[in-house]
Amino acid sequence: MFPRRPSAFLRFLIPAGLLILAFYTLGGPSDISERVGPFTVSTPWGTKITTGGQHPIEVLIKRAEQEFEERIADKSETVGEAAAAYRKRRGRHPPPGFDKWFAFAQEKDALIVEDFFDQIYHDLEPFWGLPAKRIRKDAWDFEMRIQVRDGKATSGSDWFWTKIWLKLLQTIEDKLPDMDLALNAMDEPRLVVPWEEIDGYMTKAAETRKLADPSDIISEFQKLPPPGEGSEKSEVTPAKDWEKEKHYWLIARRGCPPDSLARQAPVINNFENTPLIKSSFALEHMQNGYVSNFTLSTDFCHQPDLQALEGIFVEPLSTSATKTMFPMFGGSKLAVNNEILLPAPMYLNEEERFMGSKGQNIPWEEKNDTVIWRGVATGGRNHEWNWRSFQRHRFVAMNNGTSITLAETHKQEPANFALPPAQYGLQAQQIGHLGKWVGNFSNVAFVDLMCGYPDQLPGRCNYTDPYYSLRKAMPMSEQFGNKYLPDIDGNSFSGRYLGFLRSTSLPIKATLWREWHDSRLVAWKHFVPMDSRFGDWYGIMEYFLGNPETGAKPHDEAAKRIAMAGREWAEKVLRKDDMQIYVYRLLLEYARVSDPKREKMGWVGDLPNSSESSNW
Ligand SMILES: *[C@@H]1O[C@H](CO)[C@@H](O)[C@H](O)[C@H]1NC(C)=O
Ligand SMILES: *[C@@H]1O[C@H](CO)[C@@H](O)[C@H](O)[C@H]1NC(C)=O
Ligand SMILES: *[C@@H]1O[C@H](CO)[C@@H](O)[C@H](O)[C@H]1NC(C)=O
Ligand SMILES: *[C@@H]1O[C@H](CO)[C@@H](O)[C@H](O)[C@H]1NC(C)=O
Ligand SMILES: *[C@@H]1O[C@H](CO)[C@@H](O)[C@H](O)[C@H]1NC(C)=O
Ligand SMILES: *[C@@H]1O[C@H](CO)[C@@H](O)[C@H](O)[C@H]1NC(C)=O
Repeated sequence: MFPRRPSAFLRFLIPAGLLILAFYTLGGPSDISERVGPFTVSTPWGTKITTGGQHPIEVLIKRAEQEFEERIADKSETVGEAAAAYRKRRGRHPPPGFDKWFAFAQEKDALIVEDFFDQIYHDLEPFWGLPAKRIRKDAWDFEMRIQVRDGKATSGSDWFWTKIWLKLLQTIEDKLPDMDLALNAMDEPRLVVPWEEIDGYMTKAAETRKLADPSDIISEFQKLPPPGEGSEKSEVTPAKDWEKEKHYWLIARRGCPPDSLARQAPVINNFENTPLIKSSFALEHMQNGYVSNFTLSTDFCHQPDLQALEGIFVEPLSTSATKTMFPMFGGSKLAVNNEILLPAPMYLNEEERFMGSKGQNIPWEEKNDTVIWRGVATGGRNHEWNWRSFQRHRFVAMNNGTSITLAETHKQEPANFALPPAQYGLQAQQIGHLGKWVGNFSNVAFVDLMCGYPDQLPGRCNYTDPYYSLRKAMPMSEQFGNKYLPDIDGNSFSGRYLGFLRSTSLPIKATLWREWHDSRLVAWKHFVPMDSRFGDWYGIMEYFLGNPETGAKPHDEAAKRIAMAGREWAEKVLRKDDMQIYVYRLLLEYARVSDPKREKMGWVGDLPNSSESSNW
């Protein structure tokens, strides 16, 4: 077979671009430490931990606390401050109705920090480069939709997600301008406009980003005719040409920059074997083996190996995607998708299976020093020939003491995971007791194997049965009796995350999904971030739990502090009120960007009305 890594000769010969190819043909760079081309390759898992006696996690926690303090120091107490912060960050005037929005937020006792709304601008900015009429037409033209007219929100659809979003909109309907909202009713995100096209919209959008003279500003929204009767009726919008391609990687990667590894690296088509689990592509978002830039870790454009490590890329449950830019709202998306995010329906509905409202208050000290995870083998459509590439399958196997021990003792190679690299210096691993150590604290199992064959016993599956046994589902309230709550993506984002944050246990989060609240949470302050390969999992657990057998020191206080900070913060900025405030602001922006007069629309009530005084 091939050697495990490129020979010195090859490394000498192959320039940067080709190295990527070498990665796939030769088994990957296992210890290449030079900087090559557009990406950094160095020792897997970073350099060996040397941070002046401090554990790398301690360094990251301290940095997070500082970052958090800096972020909330920018809070706005008056509408004038909020408008000034807006202009500074967004380069435009706030939308019409901003003063009423601010009053509403204040009434709800919300903490107003401009950065908390970053996702809105990330999602809407490209639309400033699209003709407003086209946005309007596309919105009322879409079958699954909510419309707002004369302060009333309605929908023709009774799909349960639509009903939940409608209910939310109805709580603020009297404050909203007329508009139509197209909704994504699927789990999977559907819009992936090629990066090059978005780049063009962004360039056009940037040209519109200016502070118009206050005396020219239009501060009223336009009334709209009933859906389908607008002047935009004659507007011709491009066809959506919905794609059904099952291999979503092929669709998703076009949202990455042309020079990114996701676009450059060879496409993997065969998922039958143990996937290659190496950390080289994680280095950009890690520091000494742990996630140091969580936002970047959720972006896959620099991580082409994830195409064989995540169900969404291998085979989602369903695909119906388009390259055509149009305004569609959804509950979560990948970094490259172009949906406009609303808070996800399960967060608004507060179901026990996602929230576990009971049991959220168990005192930390009464909880067990254990890890709990229960879930269905989702992630996409797993089959006999691809299940090894599914993230939940990987994570469950990595928490199975028996499987780890078999791997450690070379009795059976792992089917879908890799033992942690030596760089972590895990004590249990050094004495050959990794499996024993993990088995002692981890209670991680599937409740249903979601088999690709229909003719199986309930929950079971002939090709994954040898690797997994089922355990009974556990209500969230009971799960909260454990201190540690890993959170792993399913078919899309994990709907229990908010419930985890609100609990007094500690969420440990790996994800590729973006949500409305991302800019409100600080990794290592409110939750523990984890790489999507999970190679850092054991290191994280050794830091917090220690190891009684070897004497590795636990950091229970540090875990408790993050758990409590996350809970307190969720109660402050992730309340239903906060979702309402977010959506209210989002929809003012959306209504403005859909209006042909958008460049002149705004709220300037805090400014002198003549251009002579330009102290804004
Ligand atoms: C994290 O990565 C993003 C995207 O590359 C970058 O814009 C940001 O500055 C990084 N943050 C930090 C703290 O390095
Ligand atoms: C196993 O876990 C228990 C309680 O969580 C702890 O007291 C014990 O020391 C652990 N044993 C090992 C070998 O880690
Ligand atoms: C599992 O069952 C299916 C259909 O019942 C069969 O085609 C397949 O060969 C079986 N696979 C294994 C590994 O037993
Ligand atoms: C752990 O792994 C063993 C062997 O691979 C398997 O038999 C067992 O069912 C697994 N346990 C769980 C909870 O999945
Ligand atoms: C801790 O574990 C023990 C033994 O499994 C169990 O009886 C107890 O209820 C657990 N504690 C909590 C708070 O869940
Ligand atoms: C400026 O505002 C004042 C007071 O609201 C008003 O009387 C005046 O007409 C405005 N001037 C312009 C140019 O809009």
